[in-house]
Amino acid sequence: MEHDKKQLSPVILVTGARGQIGTELVAALRNVYGREQVIATDLHDAMATPDLEGPYHQLNVLDKDELENLIATYGVTQIYHLAATLSAKGEEAPLKAWHLNMQSLLNILEAAKDHKLDKVFWPSSIAVFGPSTARKISPQNALLDPQTVYGISKEAGEQWCAYYREHYGVDVRSLRYPGLISYSAPAGGGTTDYAVAIFHEALQNGSYECYLNPDTALPMMYMDDAVRATLQLMNAPVEALKERGAYNIGALSFTPAQLAAELKNHLPDFTISYNTDKRQSIANSWPAGVEDAEARRDWNWRPEYDLVTMTADMLGHLTPVYKNNSNTAAVS
Ligand SMILES: NC(=O)c1ccc[n+]([C@@H]2O[C@H](COP(=O)([O-])OP(=O)(O)OC[C@H]3O[C@@H](n4cnc5c(N)ncnc54)[C@H](O)[C@@H]3O)[C@@H](O)[C@H]2O)c1
Repeated sequence: MEHDKKQLSPVILVTGARGQIGTELVAALRNVYGREQVIATDLHDAMATPDLEGPYHQLNVLDKDELENLIATYGVTQIYHLAATLSAKGEEAPLKAWHLNMQSLLNILEAAKDHKLDKVFWPSSIAVFGPSTARKISPQNALLDPQTVYGISKEAGEQWCAYYREHYGVDVRSLRYPGLISYSAPAGGGTTDYAVAIFHEALQNGSYECYLNPDTALPMMYMDDAVRATLQLMNAPVEALKERGAYNIGALSFTPAQLAAELKNHLPDFTISYNTDKRQSIANSWPAGVEDAEARRDWNWRPEYDLVTMTADMLGHLTPVYKNNSNTAAVS
């Protein structure tokens, strides 16, 4: 009876809720389960988050006592653990990134075990792949040989999730997100951030200097698809999920030159230049696309956005923002 009640109205805690994914995932979860059912948390204090409608708490995920306190106070039944340091930022302070990414995950898994939570979501990444993966398209069961501390933390995280699932029965589910493209929040220090920044620069300045070579193809996904995939995986019957680690999910694969060409179809004067930095070597170690037959088979994954529809949707949302900004600047 109690279990049925939990299933009907989960109480969901989201960590890293102010980030690129959290901003949209919290809104989507509130849409499905109700505003008061989703507790958003992040490092920022509550005063700095007036736009988050619904419960919000400042939480450092490394603070296990405060995490436990929130779980008990709200009767949390599910956690979406998003707080992390991403690939490019992680290389600037590897041990700090390792500590945050690993210790926070262990805090969440321990809490899930001790509080008998119903489900946990934790995202992995295409950063688990490395040079031994087929450069073109990486299968679900590729050998994982990550080249960044971020990728190592995601590979180890996948193993820890499997460990808690097998030894303690924690229902923890995971996706290997590709580079995510969205308009609501800035990208958070990953190697694929250019695919978000290019839209803002194109609308603001008409040009963009890209830190990757024009022909660097990488797996990408529009945020709407990523959020839908996350909810779909979390709602799939547990018996259907056959993968021990995180699921590959594919959607788009394009190069900076291809994205620039698509942008030029909307903004004919847009120009792009190239000046590579350290992120190029990270991108070189990743595959251009992923094979996602297992996700399609087990929980019916299908992406909806391609390069053309993603670009049009991004511009549809961002163009009015920059138009309004320039109008405001003209008035003031
Ligand atoms: N965005 C992508 O393209 C992408 C791709 C693959 C995987 N992922 C994974 O998805 C998750 C979310 O990514 P994102 O892009 O939203 O990241 P982001 O950098 O935009 O957001 C991360 C959030 O975590 C918060 N945070 C950092 N340290 C914290 C701490 N100690 N306690 C609490 N909060 C803390 C930050 O304030 C930030 O709001 C991460 O696990 C990331 O590895 C993201």
